[in-house]
Amino acid sequence: MCGIIAYTGNQNALPILLDGLKRLEYRGYDSTGLSILSRKRIKTVKAAGKLNVLESKLAKPIIGHCGIGHTRWATHGAPTDENAHPHTDPTQRFAVVHNGIIENVDALKATLKDSDTYTSETDSEVIAHLLANHKGELVDAVREVVGAIVGTYGLAVIDQQNPDTIVVARNGSPVILGVCDGAMLAASDMSALSRHTNQIVHLDDGEIAQLTPAGFQVLRLDSSVADKKAITLDNLNSHYDRGGHPHYLYKEIVDQPDTVQQTLSGRLDDRFSTAHLGGLNLEPRDLIGIKRVTLLGCGSALYAAMAGANMIESLARIPVVAEPAAEFRYRNPVIEKDTLYIVVSQSGETFDTLAALREVRRKGGFVLGVVNSVGSTIAREVDGGIYMHAGPEVSVASTKAYSSMLVSFALLALLLGRSRDTSPQQGSRHINDLKQLPDNILKVLELEPEIAKIANKYKKRQSAFFVGRTNGFPIALEGAQKLKEISYIHAEAYPASELKHGPLALVTEKTPCIVILPNDDLLAKSISTMEEIKARGGPVIALTNAQSTPDDRINKLADEVIRVPDSGELTLPAVMGVALQLLAYHSAVSLGRDVDQPRNLAKSVTVE
Ligand code: G6P
Repeated sequence: MCGIIAYTGNQNALPILLDGLKRLEYRGYDSTGLSILSRKRIKTVKAAGKLNVLESKLAKPIIGHCGIGHTRWATHGAPTDENAHPHTDPTQRFAVVHNGIIENVDALKATLKDSDTYTSETDSEVIAHLLANHKGELVDAVREVVGAIVGTYGLAVIDQQNPDTIVVARNGSPVILGVCDGAMLAASDMSALSRHTNQIVHLDDGEIAQLTPAGFQVLRLDSSVADKKAITLDNLNSHYDRGGHPHYLYKEIVDQPDTVQQTLSGRLDDRFSTAHLGGLNLEPRDLIGIKRVTLLGCGSALYAAMAGANMIESLARIPVVAEPAAEFRYRNPVIEKDTLYIVVSQSGETFDTLAALREVRRKGGFVLGVVNSVGSTIAREVDGGIYMHAGPEVSVASTKAYSSMLVSFALLALLLGRSRDTSPQQGSRHINDLKQLPDNILKVLELEPEIAKIANKYKKRQSAFFVGRTNGFPIALEGAQKLKEISYIHAEAYPASELKHGPLALVTEKTPCIVILPNDDLLAKSISTMEEIKARGGPVIALTNAQSTPDDRINKLADEVIRVPDSGELTLPAVMGVALQLLAYHSAVSLGRDVDQPRNLAKSVTVE
């Protein structure tokens, strides 16, 4: 999604803006640009394509200490030089970068009667034109302009007549301020700030901030002052370094023994065989009153939620559903006071998930968050929750955050289970499984050479099926998601029982089927699925935690077998998930794909 970076201070703005844009790269974009106040004039350079195209246009550096930059993910108008941000007004007094969508753009343009002066097809350009219509202080002009906008925005503006000042504003699209000694930064994402500071301020919707090298002031739309203090975040810089690995995705896969450990850390209670989750803000009495649970998320977060639903239902014996967040809010859901709603999000900024959260809260529901990004919008708006502590995830496709979501749900299932039907003995068995998880993931990582071989063997296939039953189905969904996202091989997941009701028609010797075989009560039935596929000539890749036996039907039927360590029901999705991440990763690498920034996708989807 689009990214914003802004700097005002005593250093040259250009290298800081370019570094910020580089760090925003992972969010996915199609064009870039920047504007710097240089010798009392605004100089703007923009380019369709990757950052190196912009850099090549900057052979002669722009000197100046105040500027704004943008990476764009096209919504209004194709990715061209003209449509790239920043946008300026016809007199070149103002330059603006904008994330979000202006719904009343036509009505706003009609108030100006300057339709022949637009140079782009974007909705954002109108902001600069509207600003040019205002006299007086920049911050007042921005406040009036954003007051007229219907839609969403995270924006930053510079003004030729206010040389050291940047004004930023937020409604529905994140803006974070970075406080430095003698300088201020603003960005849409922590990644662009972490090299410079760990002192940050999250703007809330409806807030506007004026930044100068000396500091910041935050105002509300009614011009009252908002008393915002900077918070200190742990040093996050190392997460934005690939640490010698070829891709962020690879780094994030191999980091998982550590990152799941961080999610678990301090949360297992051996004495009472339960979990400590202090951030939930729920007393035991509240836990026992929960009649249902609804989990909401998008993409991999949804698939993690589906696995989480099985865990909670199995341990706590409460009905649990997991739903796509966007669909939920549009179907006018019934909100009940004894239902626990949980939104799940790595970034804490996904628009659809945030909108679902707001819909539940508007109707009086109690909402928890399972969130990775500390201080993100979702984290701030929920009634309580679980931080994943996986550290920032950079690659577009989710890996370590997905595993930490699963661990968070396992902890919640344990807590809810132990407040109901799960016995202390069962609880301590689950705790042991969770303690084993980092080691078990390490053992899966040791399977990398054989998984890479399988990926290489099947990389030319156009299509693949992932099938699993009950607990295996969400694992299949996420496996298919990873493969399609980064390798572009068409991959679909089905409950194994559904194969015969349609998709079997597509199974031939050209469609590898990845069969998920948890070592549970349904193992024999899952093995029958392999028979169905083999009878149609389909190659079978079996993924199982059942250990090999002399008379092993899995070995006999499958063309390839990936055996992961024996794991319990709470940890199996994460253990198998890592094997499927490696399969997708090596398929993508062997096909020469852009692993960290797959086409058409963005890391954090902050528009509807
Ligand atoms: C995008 C990403 C996915 C991610 C989804 C939800 O679509 O490409 O990898 O799973 O957003 O993101 P969230 O930050 O809410 O977990």
